Amino acid sequence: MGGQVQKNILITGGAGFIGSHVVRRFVTKYRAYRIYNLDALTYAGNLENLKDVENQPNYSFIKGDITDVDMINALFDRHKFDGVIHLAAESHVDRSITDPLSFVKTNVLGTVNLLNASLEIAKNNQQFKYYHISTDEVYGTLGNTGLFSENSPYNPNSPYSASKASSDHFVRAYGETYGLPYVISNCSNNYGPNQFPEKLIPLFINNIIHNKPLPVYGDGNYTRDWLYVKDHAEAIDLVFHSGKLGETFNIGGGNEWKNIDLAKMLCRIMDVKLGRQEGQSEQLITFVKDRPGHDLRYAIDASKIENELGWRPSVTFQEGLDRTIDWYFENREWLEHVTSGDYKDYYKTQYQE
Ligand code: NAD
Ligand code: DAU
Repeated sequence: MGGQVQKNILITGGAGFIGSHVVRRFVTKYRAYRIYNLDALTYAGNLENLKDVENQPNYSFIKGDITDVDMINALFDRHKFDGVIHLAAESHVDRSITDPLSFVKTNVLGTVNLLNASLEIAKNNQQFKYYHISTDEVYGTLGNTGLFSENSPYNPNSPYSASKASSDHFVRAYGETYGLPYVISNCSNNYGPNQFPEKLIPLFINNIIHNKPLPVYGDGNYTRDWLYVKDHAEAIDLVFHSGKLGETFNIGGGNEWKNIDLAKMLCRIMDVKLGRQEGQSEQLITFVKDRPGHDLRYAIDASKIENELGWRPSVTFQEGLDRTIDWYFENREWLEHVTSGDYKDYYKTQYQE
């Protein structure tokens, strides 16, 4: 604890994928901080993700919905947070296509509630900082070349990215209009342990385990820049503590893969791990109808966070995938549990030819 300043930190969405890695990092690294994890425990939130830290004396879980204004105001009033790291969101693009309003409610309205409560606290606390976690999808799509920088124009194409773009704009506007001290980061595709198996990598791992089809949208030539979730959590730690207020930081893995090549690589690795014949899992690849408004390519220029904060991804894709696949093998119960509730196989409902 030596030398660490005591702080009350609110992390929203801490029972989700990225949030759970951020909570674990902060609880174990900053023993003088009191970490409050506020999460509504939607289908994507799961307290099993935090079993190893749930009894730590500097950690508290609060079940609550960020769209509940009274609850939010009472919570801020009670704990007088010194910082907020806001991750809670509806996060899956396919769900946003069938139910955009839920994304507006949580991602826009929920964010504005947190901003209003933060303003009240910031009036009496010079140290207060609001940190908004966002996505590279707000920039829309790239062609075959180029990178997103912090100056790329906002051009969201899905209801999910439109809701995230809107929330980013509100954060910036609260900074300009009311002087709220904030930082924002926009990150590329994360992968790793605890990711809900509706996103590409865990969905395909789960389906390979169960010998189910691997639905590749369109021709599979869509490109994403993949980052291991613990590298993102480290970047969040750095931006929260050292990022200049009023600034945005892009975070990415410098690790672009076409979906079809990634699918084939996963199949090859898993054939070996499962003792299957070479090429066996690849037969599960099935081309299905494309996602509407599907962004062709995301890729990040992360030079600002690298130069200003000294961040670099530390886990290679090979190593990260290896760890991730092993984690899903070792946590079959988690997989069974999270897929037994409000879970839809989206390609079956929307994209099957
Ligand atoms: P996730 O879907 O795994 O987790 C979201 C969490 O938010 C869940 O625990 C859920 O219960 C909680 N939540 C949802 N609605 C809520 C509400 N109304 N009130 C309180 N809690 C609520 O999401 P994730 O992939 O971990 O993403 C976390 C954040 O990071 C999101 O803001 C997302 O936009 C952003 N992001 C994600 C990625 C990625 O690749 N997953 C990349 C860049 C940015
Ligand atoms: O770029 C950051 C974003 O990455 C985050 O903000 C989002 O929260 C996160 O969900 C992710 O969005 P994507 O749409 O890129 O992720 P997803 O895993 O849904 O899809 C990755 C790519 O794989 C995309 O091109 C669509 C394709 N895909 C996805 C699924 C689920 C398939 O071909 N088949 C599938 O079954």
